[in-house]
Amino acid sequence: MLVSRYIRVYEPFQIMSEKWSPKSWRNKEALHMPNYQNEDHLNQTLNEISKYPPLVFAGEARLLKKKLGDVAKGNAFLLQGGDCAESFADFHPDNIRDTFKVILQMAVVLTFGASCPIVKVGRIAGQFAKPRSSATEVINGLELESYKGDIINGIDFNQKDRDPNPDRLIQAYNQSASTLNLLRAFSQGGFANLNKIHQWNLNFVKGENAAKFREISSRIDECLSFMEACGINGSSVRQLNETDFFTSHEALLLQYEEALTRIDSTSGKWYDVSAHMLWVGDRTRQLDGAHIEFLKGIENPIGIKVGPSTKTEELLKILDVLNPNDESGKITLICRMGHEKVNGILPKIIKSVNSAGKNVVWTCDPMHGNTIKSNTGFKTRPLKDIISEIQQFFQIHRSEGTYPGGVHLEMTGQDVTECMGGLQEITDEDLKNRYHTYCDPRLNASQSLELAFLLSDFLKEEKFLSKQSSNQ
Ligand code: PEP
Ligand code: CO
Repeated sequence: MLVSRYIRVYEPFQIMSEKWSPKSWRNKEALHMPNYQNEDHLNQTLNEISKYPPLVFAGEARLLKKKLGDVAKGNAFLLQGGDCAESFADFHPDNIRDTFKVILQMAVVLTFGASCPIVKVGRIAGQFAKPRSSATEVINGLELESYKGDIINGIDFNQKDRDPNPDRLIQAYNQSASTLNLLRAFSQGGFANLNKIHQWNLNFVKGENAAKFREISSRIDECLSFMEACGINGSSVRQLNETDFFTSHEALLLQYEEALTRIDSTSGKWYDVSAHMLWVGDRTRQLDGAHIEFLKGIENPIGIKVGPSTKTEELLKILDVLNPNDESGKITLICRMGHEKVNGILPKIIKSVNSAGKNVVWTCDPMHGNTIKSNTGFKTRPLKDIISEIQQFFQIHRSEGTYPGGVHLEMTGQDVTECMGGLQEITDEDLKNRYHTYCDPRLNASQSLELAFLLSDFLKEEKFLSKQSSNQ
């Protein structure tokens, strides 16, 4: 009698503790999270956000998953890019427009050059929270919380700014909502119309990049005139007038993600409606950790950063947990090894994932493994190292018989001087001129476009070689 009473109480408790909910991550260890001093203030804010409208819709996240499924099959290419960290201070419609313009330019270069549909995903409208190498920073004996992104605290080194402030969650939500509003207008309101292609180039992008883009634009114009003459135009074909543009960010600040996780009325399933795609960072992807626990319950497409410290067995277990049904387009492995390590590490990971029969999209983040300190003291990335990692990424996939499905870039439409090299020949001496990033160095519009032309060659060659081998 005593035993059976014990079992009756114990069983439901066990089931309850195993059942996923948007807050079940709270039972696990959560790394890189801020220390909020005032719990009540935090909880009131989260309660408020949990009543706010969704930023994206479940149907859109499903569409992105379907498109990523095409990438997984080798029929499309993923272009994911934007700021390392969005900031409240740089929030301006022109900045959003310029980032959107460069992504459109890059996409058109790739579509035209490699005859391949491009899936466009911004690191935008929610990319605010940052993991940092140390939780606190000490200057002149004063120890304060490190800057962890504008959704958490301020960048200036004083107590008021650096203390995590829950009000920032509301500001981040509002900024994300109006950024998305503008992006939706840009992608569907005529700006993305291919007839406007000549207007996409940014004034400061000059020389060879601008000339090459002008040439592509003119050729596209000719194609459009030909199609128009055949009776095909923007009013009959939506793709010529509009574009699909998706949003993504690192799912780091789990309290915020939890408050925006809702059941979709159509499917009855959980979606994190803060962005279409969420990714888990290289520092928070522990199998037993809070971030994987959170991500395992949502239906959105998920990215996993795969750095040099990745243990293959753990990665395979993470794939089992995050994608138990091996759904196509669900998982994107964002590899960020660095140009010196990629050749030694990536082939083994690809072999293991392949032999376990896992369905994934492989993309290359050539930014995070290639960060160096310049002689002038700036955190920077040489464009040549970025290109080298991408080139090796394509070669490795060719040898392994897998498809290099995309790139993940930190980039901006502004004329910044944060990464070295490129046609503008940015040197370590130039970095100080326009170094504006809130976290990691970004490619500027000229460097991004230059990279797109190279990528289009790599992708064209990949398409050619894979056609040849399938004909053999
Ligand atoms: C990032 O994408 O900004 C980032 C912090 O990357 P990683 O987790 O790969 O270091
Ligand atoms: Co970064």
